Amino acid sequence: MENIKSYVQQHKDRFINELIELLKIPSVSADTAYCQDVIDTAEAVKVSLEKAGCDHVEICETAGYPIVYGEKIIDPNLPTVLVYGHYDVQPADPIELWTSPPFEPVIKKTDIHPEGAIFARGACDDKGQMYMHVKAFEYMIQSNTLPCNVKFMIEGEEEVGSVNLKTFVENNVEKLKNDVILISDTGMISNQQPSITTGLRGLSYVEVEVTGPNRDLHSGLYGGAVANPINILAKMIASLHDENNHITIPGFYDNVEELSLEERAEMAKAPFNLDNYKKALDLKDVYGETGYVTNERNSIRPTLDVNGIWGGYTGEGAKTVIASQAFAKISMRLVPNQEWENITELFTKHFMSLAPAGVTVKVKPHHGGQGYVTPIDSIGYKAANMAYTETFGVPAIPVRSGGSIPIVALFEKELKSKTILMGFGLDSDAIHSPNEHFGIFNYLKGIETIPLFYKYFVELSK
Ligand code: BES
Ligand code: MN
Ligand code: MN
Repeated sequence: MENIKSYVQQHKDRFINELIELLKIPSVSADTAYCQDVIDTAEAVKVSLEKAGCDHVEICETAGYPIVYGEKIIDPNLPTVLVYGHYDVQPADPIELWTSPPFEPVIKKTDIHPEGAIFARGACDDKGQMYMHVKAFEYMIQSNTLPCNVKFMIEGEEEVGSVNLKTFVENNVEKLKNDVILISDTGMISNQQPSITTGLRGLSYVEVEVTGPNRDLHSGLYGGAVANPINILAKMIASLHDENNHITIPGFYDNVEELSLEERAEMAKAPFNLDNYKKALDLKDVYGETGYVTNERNSIRPTLDVNGIWGGYTGEGAKTVIASQAFAKISMRLVPNQEWENITELFTKHFMSLAPAGVTVKVKPHHGGQGYVTPIDSIGYKAANMAYTETFGVPAIPVRSGGSIPIVALFEKELKSKTILMGFGLDSDAIHSPNEHFGIFNYLKGIETIPLFYKYFVELSK
C-alpha cells in the first residue's frame, strides 16, 4: 500500500473540492424547509459512489429520506465490508455565532489544525468522514487493490433517529449481509494519538408539556393563586437529580453495568488533561455525578439533560404574565443493558407522578436506541488497530464514547455483525455547534488509513 500516500498527495485538492461541493448542500434532516436539499444530497452521494467505482448504486426510497446503497462485489467467497454513514446534518443555528456561513465551506487554520480545517455544517459529522470512505474506495479501485467486497449504506436521517433505516435494515437482511460494519462517525483522542471507539451510549429522547390555566393570565391578578406551569416544570426538572447528581427516577440504574476497578484503571490510562478540558470550554470547574471522573461521567455513566426549555414571554422588555403552558426537551444517555423503551416508560411514570394537581403533564417520546460496546479482540478491531498503527506510527487506544449512533445496536441484532468505529474527528471540531470543522490532516489521514483496514481485515480473516 505504498501508493495510497502518493495517491492522496496527488489528488488531495480534488478530494477537498469534492467534499466542499457536498458541504454546500444544506441537508438538514430536522427541518422540512430543507427537504429538497436533503434529497439532492442523496443524489450527489449516489453519483460519487458511481464515479468511485461501485457497480450498482441505487436510491432506496423510505417513508422519510432515501438511503443510498452501493456495492462492488468482486468475489462472493471473499469477505464483505459494509460501510455506513450519514449525509444529513444538524441544523446550523444559532447562525449568528458562525464566523463564516455554515453552507459556504472555507478552509481556515486553527491552533489544533495548523494545516487548515474545512469549516461547514457536516464537515466532520458526517459528510467529511463518510466521504473519506468513498475516496478510499476510489483509490482501491484505481490501484486494483480492493481485497474484498464492499457495500455502502449512506442514510439521510441519522440526526433525527434513523427511524426508517431501522425498517430498511429489517427488510433487507440478505442484501446487507456482511462480515464487518465499518463506520467513521466518531472521534479520536488527538492527531498524535489515534483511538478506536469501543462503546456508544444509548438514548431516550422525550418532550414534556406542562399545562396550567386554559389561557395566559395576568401575573398580578392570578399570581400566587394558580400553579405557574413554568415554575412547576422547573421544579420537576430540578428534582430529577439529587445532591450527588444521581438521577432520581426509580429503577433508572437497575440494569446499569458497573465497571470493575481494573476496567476503570484501564480507562484512566487514556491521555486526558482536566485543565485543558476546562480551558477549552472556559469553565472554572467541571460538574457531574459524585464518585466518577470526567471521562467516566461522559462515557460509562447514564445521564439526563434538558436540551431545550420554553414557555411564557421571552421577547423584548417585560410582560407580566403567567403562561398557560411550559415545555422542555429532555434526553437521557444510556449505557449498555439499559433498555431505552423501558427507560422512557420509567421516566414517563415518574415525571407524571411529580405533577401537583394544579397542572396536567404530557410526556411525548421522540426516539431512542440502545448503547453499544464492542470487544477489542475481534478481527475487525485488530485490523483497525494495525491500520492506525501504520499511518499514525502509534497504536490506537480503545475509548468508550458518550455519543450515540442508535442504529449500531440494531445492526448487531439484525445483521449479526460487529461494528468497527474508526472515527477521525476531534472533540474540538465542534460537531452540532456553530463553526463545525474537520481538519484537512484528519480527512486525508482517514483516506490513507481506511484501505489498510480492508487489507488487514482480509488478511486476518483467512
Ligand atoms: N456522529 C454522531 C455521534 C457521535 C459523535 C458519537 C462523536 C461519538 C462521537 C451522530 O451523528 C449523532 O450526533 N448522534 C446523535 C444521536 C441521534 C439519535 C440524534 C447524538 O449522539 O446526539
Ligand atoms: Mn454523525
Ligand atoms: Mn450528529
